[in-house]
Amino acid sequence: MGRFNGATVLITGATGGLGSGAAKAFAAEGARLVLSDLDEAALADFAATLDTEKATLAGNIADEKLSQDLVQLAVEKFGRLDIAINNAGIVHSFVRLPQVTSEEARRVVDVDLLGVFYAMKHQIPQMGASSGKAARAASSSTSPRSPVSPARPSFRSMPPPSMASLG
Ligand SMILES: NC(=O)c1ccc[n+]([C@@H]2O[C@H](COP(=O)([O-])OP(=O)(O)OC[C@H]3O[C@@H](n4cnc5c(N)ncnc54)[C@H](O)[C@@H]3O)[C@@H](O)[C@H]2O)c1
Repeated sequence: MGRFNGATVLITGATGGLGSGAAKAFAAEGARLVLSDLDEAALADFAATLDTEKATLAGNIADEKLSQDLVQLAVEKFGRLDIAINNAGIVHSFVRLPQVTSEEARRVVDVDLLGVFYAMKHQIPQMGASSGKAARAASSSTSPRSPVSPARPSFRSMPPPSMASLG
């Protein structure tokens, strides 16, 4: 029996390096997956390789409606949302700050900051409704004490859903 049997896990940036690794690891532990990324065909191809129940929805995480739709998909398909890996993201060009265009900086803020904000804004109420328990993603660059920091995933330290609490 997998450690995440019965849990529904939402992963954005699911076809990328860390996202696909997380999806495979959660699938191997029995989780049901809601997967999202930009490229619909690549997402469908990747999802087909996973031996678990899954649903996919492609889109841009900087568009708030995608986050709303992903939570709705989790509820419609699996009746709950337990864990979210808000992993989709970009980095700006590796140049000195004055060479970063304002347009590029705005894009990074839209995806990496607002994208995670939109995601958590729609996920948290549903996680509360699912079981009163939810896993919180965290990274070395965000405070482990803040329950709502836009965050990157830390899979190794993530406990089973029954053990995780929001805040
Ligand atoms: N790999 C690392 O060492 C490292 C270090 C620090 C932070 N990160 C961050 O962790 C996350 C995953 O890293 P990775 O190495 O797997 O990166 P990756 O580029 O392989 O994967 C990121 C995924 O996010 C998707 N994505 C990008 N913009 C999107 C958008 N607007 N809407 C929806 N999906 C979008 C991409 O299509 C891609 O599949 C990224 O946010 C990255 O910035 C990675």
